[in-house]
Amino acid sequence: MRKLLLSLLVLSLLTCGQAGANGKSKALYKDAKAPVEKRVEDLLSRMTLEEKVYQLNQYTLGSNNNVNNIGEAVRNVPAEIGSVIYFDENPQLRNELQKKAMENSRLGIPVLFGYDVIHGFRTVYPIPLAQACSWNPALAEQASAVAAQESRMSGVDWTFSPMIDVARDARWGRVAEGYGEDPYTTGVFAAASVRGYQGDDLASDKRVAACLKHYVGYGASEAGRDYVYTEISRQALWDTYLPPYEAGVKAGAATLMSGFNDISGVPASAHYYTLTEVLKNRWKHDGFVVSDWCSVVQLVNQGVAADGKEAAEKAFMAGVEMDMVDDCYQKHLPVLVKEGKVPMKLIDEAVRRVLRVKFRLGLFDRPYTKEVKPDKRFLLPESLFTVEKLAEESTVLLKNSGKLLPLSGVKKIAVVGPLAKNQADLLGSWSGHGKAEDVCSIYDAMVREFAGKADILYAQGCDFDGESRAGFAEALTTAKQADVVVLCLGEKRGWSGENASRSTIALPAIQEALLVELKQSGKPVVVLLANGRPLDLVRIGKQVDAIVEIWQPGVAGGKPVSGILSGRVNPSGKLAMTFPYTTGQIPIYYNHRAPARKGSQGRYQDIPSTPLYDFGYGLSYTDFQYGDLKASAERVKRGDKLTVEVAVTNSGDRDGQETVHWFISDPVCSISRPVKELKFFEKQPLKAGETKVFRFQIDTDRDFGFVDSDGKSFLEAGDYYILVKDRKLKIRVE
Ligand code: GLC
Repeated sequence: MRKLLLSLLVLSLLTCGQAGANGKSKALYKDAKAPVEKRVEDLLSRMTLEEKVYQLNQYTLGSNNNVNNIGEAVRNVPAEIGSVIYFDENPQLRNELQKKAMENSRLGIPVLFGYDVIHGFRTVYPIPLAQACSWNPALAEQASAVAAQESRMSGVDWTFSPMIDVARDARWGRVAEGYGEDPYTTGVFAAASVRGYQGDDLASDKRVAACLKHYVGYGASEAGRDYVYTEISRQALWDTYLPPYEAGVKAGAATLMSGFNDISGVPASAHYYTLTEVLKNRWKHDGFVVSDWCSVVQLVNQGVAADGKEAAEKAFMAGVEMDMVDDCYQKHLPVLVKEGKVPMKLIDEAVRRVLRVKFRLGLFDRPYTKEVKPDKRFLLPESLFTVEKLAEESTVLLKNSGKLLPLSGVKKIAVVGPLAKNQADLLGSWSGHGKAEDVCSIYDAMVREFAGKADILYAQGCDFDGESRAGFAEALTTAKQADVVVLCLGEKRGWSGENASRSTIALPAIQEALLVELKQSGKPVVVLLANGRPLDLVRIGKQVDAIVEIWQPGVAGGKPVSGILSGRVNPSGKLAMTFPYTTGQIPIYYNHRAPARKGSQGRYQDIPSTPLYDFGYGLSYTDFQYGDLKASAERVKRGDKLTVEVAVTNSGDRDGQETVHWFISDPVCSISRPVKELKFFEKQPLKAGETKVFRFQIDTDRDFGFVDSDGKSFLEAGDYYILVKDRKLKIRVE
């Protein structure tokens, strides 16, 4: 009997929580020591349908510079709301709403505050496409950790990042936000970004929940337009668009965001196969999916729902747990439940997932953000160091005729062009709370870098676009006074990002005309490019001595490239996205399937059929010599592991960094495969004269295998090839 009483007492404590200070039992879900899953179930069991549905909704709060995103004042946001997009850069407003949620609601469920921290909160670092060109995921991880710290300390618990849409059409403005054309590369940077944001403990006050987006296939947007149809076969879904998401889920990403795009007739935000069959049933993801902005109600526009109510039913039943800002779930889910169209058990499962993330973030136990002054949160010295390093390594030297660079012995340098003194556009799209005044312009950086060595002259020459040549004469005069011209061309930050498609990837004609004008000076010309997409550089390339792709580097601005021009920094970036010869070649990417005919057939009649710059292309100030490929075995069985290695020597007179890209090819397979596929990469420093051996530990299933149209991996016997640079090694798989 005593035992029975004792176990009943223990049971009651467990189910109702410990006695509070006042002797009243504290609800289990409020007990920080209780296991998360028990807290989730306890809280869920106490919630009404209305309270559950509130958790599946996201409003906006605070104001920002996007006219579409004017947020509600705190008074208009219900205390029970599940989440808000938080546009403020300080935590006070957030704490105000959180206090309302904790004290004015029946159960005191904390609000989850999300925001688009895509490449930095205030300390803005290079756009993701640039980061991929660094081939340094560890550095990208560190930068994401900087963003996480600034975000959490500023009231944001959840970032809508990383964007991991494989993309091959540079007309699409959102290529800037992703990691390029390759599924493997995108997956590596996805995992690095998730680790940087989330760390090992989501409850840390320096970490945020990550959000893999835009699930899935958004990068295949037809003709590079936005919000449009994407023709994606199941085969392409599995071999190209899903792999980065699987890598991100394996890295522990707390959430995903469903995309705007229509996937071959089924919109991504109503796609049961991807949202539930793949993500929940196969990958066992236990976080939640938030829709993209209004992507639930947009199902009506996309022709799969008659009205908001049907849209809510379709999105929810497909597997979208939270509805971003269009109120569809708020308005319609309670009715759909009462009508029996949406089972309560699915509502419970959705709420369970949202609460689980909130508990893991520690929001129930520490709902408020400590209020710290901005100068203790933003632009910290160690943060600036990290992001400058990343910007240096993201910079790609595309051309260097006659080894003009690094500049030496020059006494006067003319820094010309619309980007020369620009600050804001070097931040790039989705620059969060980045401020133009934080950015060091190219001109200012050149003045500092060459102080005591060369005079820096300036002329704007022209604007980003338009017809005005009013600045040409002054620019030409300035160029004539200099020993070398550094021409700073590129894009406005608003030419990339969401709803920023362009019909051509050429720069505006006025910028190319300025180059023609400056060529009359007879001086050597170095073009610096600050842009958010691969560009058509075929005319520019023919006229200049050097081209440096600096992308949109963030607050580091012109500092990295000035160090490269002076020789302080040896460039190590390599392209993570092909530069087409011209817009007409799009889509063109390295991991294409082989054509039925080779040689001169199947070519354009009017332009070359090869790109201007290949995936993986980038120059250094030194030279790297590759030895022969050596394998631990050249005949293996399926499931075996083997090691392939290559010795690389820095044969130049300067220290540098080299990235070795390891590709495989499988020329005969029951499903046609890309002509080559990147399966590993490694970047290492190499001192002048130093030799290092780079190794690739191959797992034949993982690295030689392929997937079929239902995501099943398979590995067939046959000849496989390891490809590094122009080297090729055959491996026989039995
Ligand atoms: C936007 C974007 C998405 C962003 C979300 C919240 O429409 O598509 O990337 O995270 O809305 O701002």
